[in-house]
Amino acid sequence: MKKPKKKIFLSGHKGMVGSALLKYLSLQKESKNYEIITRTRKQLNLIDQKKVENFLKKEKPDEVIIASAKVGGINANNSNPVDFLYENLMIETNLINFSFHSGVKSLIFLGSSCIYPKEASQPIKEEFLLSGPLEKTNEAYAIAKIAGIKLCNSFNKQFNVDFRCIMPCNLYGPGDNYDLEESHVIPALIRKFHLAKSNNKKFVKVWGTGKPKREFLHVYDLADACMKIRKLSKKKFKEIISPEGLINVGSGKEISISELAQTISNVVGFNGDIVFDKSMPDGTMRKVLDISKINKTNWQPKYSLKEGIIQTYSEFLKNTNKRL
Ligand SMILES: NC(=O)c1ccc[n+]([C@@H]2O[C@H](COP(=O)([O-])OP(=O)(O)OC[C@H]3O[C@@H](n4cnc5c(N)ncnc54)[C@H](OP(=O)(O)O)[C@@H]3O)[C@@H](O)[C@H]2O)c1
Repeated sequence: MKKPKKKIFLSGHKGMVGSALLKYLSLQKESKNYEIITRTRKQLNLIDQKKVENFLKKEKPDEVIIASAKVGGINANNSNPVDFLYENLMIETNLINFSFHSGVKSLIFLGSSCIYPKEASQPIKEEFLLSGPLEKTNEAYAIAKIAGIKLCNSFNKQFNVDFRCIMPCNLYGPGDNYDLEESHVIPALIRKFHLAKSNNKKFVKVWGTGKPKREFLHVYDLADACMKIRKLSKKKFKEIISPEGLINVGSGKEISISELAQTISNVVGFNGDIVFDKSMPDGTMRKVLDISKINKTNWQPKYSLKEGIIQTYSEFLKNTNKRL
C-alpha cells in the first residue's frame, strides 16, 4: 500500500511571511512527499478555540508552521494594544496547545526581534530574552510573542516534543503592507518615494535624524532559513544549535536610516532631496541580532539589501494600481 503523504499545516499563508513559506515549501525537493494544508481566516478564524481544536483533531497534521499573527508598525501597536495582546495570545495558544493534543511533534513558531529588552547589548543574543524591560510602544505584541515562546519551550520540557521558535529581524519583500499608517519602514519609504517621484515633488520627509541603525532581511531569505531550520534533526537543533529552543534569523548587517532612504530613493529613481524631520523620535539607536546560531547551519542570506529592494519595488509596481 502507498505510504500516506506527510501533512504540514501552514497558518497565515496569505501574509508576507506565510506566502514566502508556502512558495519555499512547494519548491523543496521532497515536497512530493508532503501535502501542505492551508486555511484562510474566513475558513478558520484562529482566535476561535473550538474551531481550531476541531480542525487540528480532524486533519491531524504531522508538522505545523505558525506564520499567522496580528502584525503592525509602531503606530498600530501603540494605538491598539488589546488587539495585539489578545489576538496573538489566542492564535498561538490555540495552535500550539491543540497541535500537541492532535499528536503534532514538530512545530515552528515565528516571533520577532521586538521580544528582546529595549536596552539589550548589541548584537542581541537569544539568551538576552527577559533580561530587562521591553520597548513600551510594542510591549503588548512582545509579551504575547514571549508567551508563545515559553509555551513552546514548556511543551518541549514537559512532553519532549520538538517545537522550535524563530526570531527574525525586520523583514521586507513581496506581500508587504504599504499602508502609510500601519507599515514598517521599508514599505513606507518605497511608497513615499514612489509617490514623490510620480507627483514631481522636490523633497521627501523621513522621520527622525536618519542616524539610527537597523537590520533588514528579505522575506525569501527568511523562508530559506526556515527550511534549513525545520530540516535539522531534533538532536542537532537542541544540542548543537539552540538548547534554548529559540533562534535569531537576520542578515547580521546594519544600515543607517539615512543610507536606507538614499538606497530606496536611488532604486525608485527619485531625483529630489531627502529631508530628515528631527522633531520625530528616532527610537533605539542600534538594533542588530546576533546570528551565530543560524550561521552554524551554513545558511547565508542571498539578497543584498539593494538587490532585495529592487526586487520588492518591481513587485510593488506590479500592484501599484491596487495600492495607491
Ligand atoms: N513583517 C515583519 O517585518 C516581521 C518581522 C519579524 C517577524 N515577523 C513575524 O512573522 C509572522 C508573520 O508576519 P507577516 O509580516 O507575514 O504578517 P502579515 O503579512 O500580516 O500576515 C499575517 C497572516 O496571519 C493571518 N491572520 C491574522 N489573524 C488571523 C486570525 N485571527 N485567523 C486566521 N488568520 C489570521 C492573516 O490573515 P489575513 O490575510 O486574513 O489578515 C495573514 O495571512 C508574525 O509572527 C510576525 O511576528 C514579521
